[in-house]
Amino acid sequence: EKFSSGLAVFFATLGSAVGLGNIWKFPYLTGEFGGGAFLLIYFLCILFVGLPIMLGEFYIGRKTRKNAVGALKALKPGTSWKYIGLMGVVASYLIMFFYSCVAGWVYFYLCKALNGDFAAITMESAKTQFGDVIMGPLSPIVWQIIVLIVVASILAMGVKKGIEKITKTLMPLLFILIIICDIRALTLPGASEGIHFLFQVDFSKLTATAILTAMGLAFFKLSLGMGTMMTYGSYFTEDNNLFSTAAKVALSDTLVSMLAGLAIFPTVFSFGMEPGAGPGLLFMTIPLVFSQMPFGNILLAAFFFLTAIAATTAMLSLVEVPIAYWTEEKGLSRKKAAIINALVIGIIGILATLSVDKSSLLGDVTFWGKGFFDWFDYISSNILLPVGGLLISLLVGYGIKREDLHYELSNQGTLQVNTLINVFYFIVRYVTPALLVVVFLNSIGIIKL
Ligand code: PHE
Repeated sequence: EKFSSGLAVFFATLGSAVGLGNIWKFPYLTGEFGGGAFLLIYFLCILFVGLPIMLGEFYIGRKTRKNAVGALKALKPGTSWKYIGLMGVVASYLIMFFYSCVAGWVYFYLCKALNGDFAAITMESAKTQFGDVIMGPLSPIVWQIIVLIVVASILAMGVKKGIEKITKTLMPLLFILIIICDIRALTLPGASEGIHFLFQVDFSKLTATAILTAMGLAFFKLSLGMGTMMTYGSYFTEDNNLFSTAAKVALSDTLVSMLAGLAIFPTVFSFGMEPGAGPGLLFMTIPLVFSQMPFGNILLAAFFFLTAIAATTAMLSLVEVPIAYWTEEKGLSRKKAAIINALVIGIIGILATLSVDKSSLLGDVTFWGKGFFDWFDYISSNILLPVGGLLISLLVGYGIKREDLHYELSNQGTLQVNTLINVFYFIVRYVTPALLVVVFLNSIGIIKL
């Protein structure tokens, strides 16, 4: 099974990368960690860590044409490298526990928008409405379950061609809608303060946690460090230029994140809200921007519809990692694997949903100051993905013969990419692992940046 063309490869991969990471997580983390300086570190991580690891994953996937665990087994038979794949399976579950919860809020917001619930919204009611949505306690769980049923049904049917088509048509629409949102947000009174916040680099705001979080976000955003891009690479066509696919995906993904930021921060400042408001930032600001436009209600519903689609295609790629593992390595049928995985994710994911806020039902259950929701996110984004990425960069940089790398990345010598390969080889051997190690050591206080 392969994607049908180069364009399909691009859109399918973008379908994995663009999701709640761009629209929900990127803005709220940038807000929480103080704007410009965080953004700068994030860009550097995309360039020197994200891109090389994405290429490395594409390489491993397309060369072996297997799921993450199988790919590493085939590439390095009888070694421990396969544990990167298993770590990826674990990371995928951890991410899904909280991702399905937030996707549930998006589905819920779509329904509310269709229902006209945001017609007379004010800053205060935006906050109350978000509080009601996450507090439930029953409704957010029901929405999370609906999300999982949707994801499991699509996965059980194994409709790769369908996914291609959906992303190809709906992704550009999401793009356009965010731009409309940007235009309105940027023309609100006081919008310039939001721009200032986003682009003014103030290194004094940069903590070790902020640096680690920016790095983790780069992994999360580009779906890296856990085998998703290996799995996708395994469906790539033989003649696909891996360099250009990686560059285009990283660029488009970053663009979508930035456009989301440009819609949210001007609104935050224009309405006198807190940029560090946390996971509710998107849900409190977007209905406000649309309330300031003609046809705002319809456009708002369209926005949440497209965001729901983006979140869903990203989840399909997330769950594909364990599904491919259970079907290809353990011989389960696709249907069975989809149902079992959705059940496991649903049961544990409820813990995330019930611990989003301090006043949630399980809000007091914390371990070292963090509840389930935060731990699932922290362990996956800030630890497992970057560690997975470090191992992948070491494997590609030191565990593979340079000729083999050259052969695959140049599509059997048909592409003239010698210089690019040299640059890539240098970065993946020295720069990427060094940066990752420095960020880790800095975050546990062994060195001080
Ligand atoms: N990149 C996706 C997003 O931004 C999330 C994701 C992470 C998907 C890891 C697959 C693997 O929403």
